[in-house]
Amino acid sequence: MTLRTVATRPFPGQRPGTSGLRKKTAEFEQPGYLENFVQSLFDVLPGTAGKTLILGGDGRYLNTSAAQIILRMAAANGFGRVLVGRGGLLSTPAASHLIRRHGALGGILLSASHNPGGPDGDFGIKFNAANGGPAAEALTEAIYRRSGEIAEYRILDVPDIDIGRVGTVRLGAMQVEVIDPVSDYANLMERLFDFERMRALLRRGSFCMRFDAMNAVTGPYARAILEGRLGAPAGTVMNGEPLPDFGGHHPDPNPVHAAELMAIMSSRDAPDFGAASDGDGDRNMIVGRGFPVSPSDSLAILAANAKLVPGHADGLKGIARSMPTSRAADRVAAAMDLPCFETPTGWKYFGSLLDAGRVSLCGEESYGTGASHVREKDGLWAVLFWLDLVAARGEGVEAIVRDHWRRFGRHYYSRHDYEEVEAGQAGRLMADLRGRLGGLAGRRLAGLDVTLADDFAYRDPVDGSSSEGQGLRIVFGETARIVLRLSGTGTAGATIRVYFELYEPDPARHDRPVQEVLAPLIALAEDLAGIRRLTGRTRPSVVT
Ligand code: G1P
Ligand code: ZN
Repeated sequence: MTLRTVATRPFPGQRPGTSGLRKKTAEFEQPGYLENFVQSLFDVLPGTAGKTLILGGDGRYLNTSAAQIILRMAAANGFGRVLVGRGGLLSTPAASHLIRRHGALGGILLSASHNPGGPDGDFGIKFNAANGGPAAEALTEAIYRRSGEIAEYRILDVPDIDIGRVGTVRLGAMQVEVIDPVSDYANLMERLFDFERMRALLRRGSFCMRFDAMNAVTGPYARAILEGRLGAPAGTVMNGEPLPDFGGHHPDPNPVHAAELMAIMSSRDAPDFGAASDGDGDRNMIVGRGFPVSPSDSLAILAANAKLVPGHADGLKGIARSMPTSRAADRVAAAMDLPCFETPTGWKYFGSLLDAGRVSLCGEESYGTGASHVREKDGLWAVLFWLDLVAARGEGVEAIVRDHWRRFGRHYYSRHDYEEVEAGQAGRLMADLRGRLGGLAGRRLAGLDVTLADDFAYRDPVDGSSSEGQGLRIVFGETARIVLRLSGTGTAGATIRVYFELYEPDPARHDRPVQEVLAPLIALAEDLAGIRRLTGRTRPSVVT
């Protein structure tokens, strides 16, 4: 067994985005590409000797071969122990839990989340720190700087080890523990929710649910929890087999990409409750019969009902949402007299608030919801939360949402994505609008008064760090908002995201088509930003 030091040269562009380093698979397949990034990470971590590392991924193409390389590099870089999920699998929230439970230095997750996988798809790698949450910007920037000067990486010269069976293997001086990816996570869920109550609901012949794992990592988790521990009938979990290319689908749980589930949920004999999760298991979509729940509403509803589930029986400390997420949660926080935080997009900003005990629930409009039990958003956790609410309230999804709107008003909400726009064009569009924001406040546009127009900047109230340039927002008091930002997770060109929100307090007006209600704001955004004029796009690629 020999330790090899391999000479290498920097690859440009190894800068982690909103959620780790995400690139086309082919880029990751270049010899040394993965190795360079991993060595850059190990080089900037504060000492790896004897430490514990958690390792897993969402099962996409390259997952297991990358895991083997990382195990050999971890051994060569002095780690004492690596816990790897069987078959190289770990959902993002399960990995976050394991990092915390085992006092690990951190975890490496092989995933490009909801992006398609396979040789022509995307691959990704992200590092989560000792608190279980995504690496802070200071660390990802340090990795990036290091990747620009790297000259060699260290790796053990040994054959692949068997990670398909639970057990312990030695790799040089390092111990590799292959663990069941599901059991610790399932135990955690049992502590947070009333499994007896949910079991009773699922046993009732009259209640039926479907969970779409989208051929990604949550299949084994959902089968073990829903069909195993909760006794839902076999077949409750659909597309439950993790596949390297997710069956050719886009494993993103929204009404557009989870079309198969949406069709089932709108059929005549639709189940009562539908849900889906993404590639790495941190996103969730909740659907009633023919009734998708907007993620921003979901956060607000979970917050308003939190006391009904055991994990939050003592009440909440506060709520946080990402800036583009609708302000539905703010209304709940105000009514419950709770602090409410507005952070930049990406889960990493919630970590310090959770660590400091300032908030208990967090959410994003992009089908991400989570809480203090881990430091990531958590797809299955949100599904179980909803299921437990349905069981506790004895009401269906739609009834719960409508009741919430009656109490708090409805925030009509939509996101329009323009994907794979030429990066220069997208940059110019944003720069151009940014330059004109200063003149907007005080003007009346589309019949609404602009109260604020700026480029969102955030100062973390706990550690004082600041992040600028986090999205252009045009705010019309409490009534409406338009937000524009560039995606930080795309792998081809640039993606422009435009977010629309309009508040409607009157219950008599809660049943209108979302796009119709938002049409004046959509037209105004076009006027102001000139998306059609500057990019040639006549319509968004995806509307959610
Ligand atoms: C997207 C979502 C964001 C989420 C991230 C990771 O990032 O918009 O809310 O945290 O994926 O799942 P974006 O591509 O917008 O930078
Ligand atoms: Zn994800």
